Amino acid sequence: MFHLPDGTPALRRGVLSRARLRAASSAFSRALPLPLLAALLLTLCLALPDAALAGHGGEAARKDGILLVAFGTTVEEARPALDNIERLVRAAHPGTEVRWAWSARKARAALIKEGKSAASPQQALADMAEAGFTHVAVQSFHTIPGEEFHGLLATARAMEGLPKGLTRITVGLPLLASTDDAESVAVALKSLLPKERKPGEAVVFLGHGNPHHPAALSYPALQFYLAKADPLAFVGVVEGSPSFDDVAGALASRKARTAWLVPLMAVAGDHAHNDMAGDDPESWASQLRERGITPRPVLRGTASSDAVVAIWLRHLDAALEQLKQ
Ligand code: CO
Repeated sequence: MFHLPDGTPALRRGVLSRARLRAASSAFSRALPLPLLAALLLTLCLALPDAALAGHGGEAARKDGILLVAFGTTVEEARPALDNIERLVRAAHPGTEVRWAWSARKARAALIKEGKSAASPQQALADMAEAGFTHVAVQSFHTIPGEEFHGLLATARAMEGLPKGLTRITVGLPLLASTDDAESVAVALKSLLPKERKPGEAVVFLGHGNPHHPAALSYPALQFYLAKADPLAFVGVVEGSPSFDDVAGALASRKARTAWLVPLMAVAGDHAHNDMAGDDPESWASQLRERGITPRPVLRGTASSDAVVAIWLRHLDAALEQLKQ
């Protein structure tokens, strides 16, 4: 299992300074006045930060923390799914402080309007540095390693190793980051289905999707394992592929008369309420009805399932493990 960011910038910087030291000592051995001066200056420059640190009681004591990052939502009923994540993370890591950040600006703006606190990943990491944290494992609660996840990765990389900032930041992968994950998710998703589902009734897990990002391959990958776990379970996405027509075609070929609609997103937010279950003629529920298939929406995000959250927590464990290296 690989984890990003893979290299440690701190180490790379260490290598760099050793190279500079070597250059400095070879200049010294030639005993030429100018290089000697340069070497002395360089040595001084290299020694200064250590001296400054020593003067202030040496390096700051190590303090580890966990930052959970979700897309965020403007829908209040979606909140229990996020609370479920927090409960499970705290139970698994009782000694470590846990904080939240939201990667969607719209979701943050809505929360702030309600007088709630809502930090971006960048703000949350800066706040943690101010609060004395030195090592932070960031866990993405996104579904695929797409745009949101890569944005988070770039933020983490940019904020690692800043002066007086966080020494080390590792980022745990999102839900569908490997074929192993896809296989586990296909099984864990069953926990979101109501007991009322009868034999012959289909299930559609509706993801967000992305028509441009390479990681959108995760959805058809999940479909492969879903088909093994439950021949009447399908994946569709709001944007991109598999599309509504793809899924409707599959439902028709299985002669499904009823389809349970379940969000394949951490929370049942705006997309679940409107694009999936809404009354708008464009919603998946309306379009299925139009084709003679009874839609049965389930407004529960994947983060409300302990079985699904367990897969994200596996990734958090790996990110915490990486903090120790
Ligand atoms: Co969207």
